[in-house]
Amino acid sequence: MSSPCYISGLGLHLPRTAMTNADLERMVDTSDEWIVTRTGITNRYFAQGDEPCSVLAFNAARKALDNAGLAPQDLTHIFVGTFSGDYNLPTTACLLQDMLGLKGLPAFDLAAACSGFLYCLETARAFTCLHPEARILVVGSEVCTSRVNFEDRTTCVLFGDGAGAAIVTGAANPGPVKVLDAMLKADGSVGGLLTIHGGGSACKPVLGQPVGPEYFVQMNGRDVFKYAVRCMAEVSETVLERNGLTADDVDLIIPHQANIRIIEAIAKKLDVGMDKVYVNVDRIGNTSAASIPIALTEAVATGRIQPGMKVLLSSFGGGFTWASALLQF
Ligand code: UT7
Repeated sequence: MSSPCYISGLGLHLPRTAMTNADLERMVDTSDEWIVTRTGITNRYFAQGDEPCSVLAFNAARKALDNAGLAPQDLTHIFVGTFSGDYNLPTTACLLQDMLGLKGLPAFDLAAACSGFLYCLETARAFTCLHPEARILVVGSEVCTSRVNFEDRTTCVLFGDGAGAAIVTGAANPGPVKVLDAMLKADGSVGGLLTIHGGGSACKPVLGQPVGPEYFVQMNGRDVFKYAVRCMAEVSETVLERNGLTADDVDLIIPHQANIRIIEAIAKKLDVGMDKVYVNVDRIGNTSAASIPIALTEAVATGRIQPGMKVLLSSFGGGFTWASALLQF
């Protein structure tokens, strides 16, 4: 029996530099027509040198705190989902803690690739059971472009940068959005289909040797596509079923924004119309762990989500990891 957990504030931040498909046509052998028909993406944002992961996270966090009517000093924990932190050490969560002027409170990064935000959300839900007074800053922040190979046209057109943040509170500080349920899944046996091996202890950097393609995202796109559709649909159905619901009972579905064809295939599997599915992949591209909190923040800010609505989130990413969460507004 879990105690209730709430979302008390949301915020997003995008880098200042927009990159259209026409911009990418000038960088790599691709075309607007290919990118739009295969992915639905027309634009994404690229972080510049003064916008590392921690800076994007900080800007999203400040907006989420303002949205919750809280000050940094009200926070009790900081969790950051990312695969593209500023450094290997210190963690982005520790950098963020310092930028917020805080000391002492626990702060860590969580590595679950594009599922990083939902993994952090469920971790926060568990922490609020232990600590009902908790006010946890949960951030998905990515500078995907720092780990993308701009000589590999099959991946570099897909990703963008950004951050989304939520303030997750326990029973002692109820917020306007209740987290009804969440489920996390993983399958390491197929992790080789989506990798960044370089820099790890099994693929060590060697002083003075150049950085090769293994230091960047390498992906079997077709296989990842199939797993993404199947896994996101399955975990969404399981979460709905165990709450006595069907997709008809949900007002909005927010899937990980990787590719419009993946999103449409999930809608088909769940037997819902696209009018019930939130899409911003066309404007923002795949921002990995930031994708869901950015979409959720937008959907609330634009009035797409109204009080009383049930919203289903689902994600899929490297590992493989996938997850779903059910929210009551
Ligand atoms: O966040 C989770 C992780 N990632 C994903 O969810 C991505 C999942 N996968 C996908 O979204 C799709 O598989 C892609 C969008 C990556 C690729 O779409 P596809 O329909 O599976 O294309 P493909 O890989 O089968 O490539 C088809 C053709 C190939 O040419 P040939 O061999 O048929 O002559 C590619 O070389 O398209 C070519 N191609 C490109 N052409 C122009 C691949 N990338 C590009 C490009 N521009 N950027």
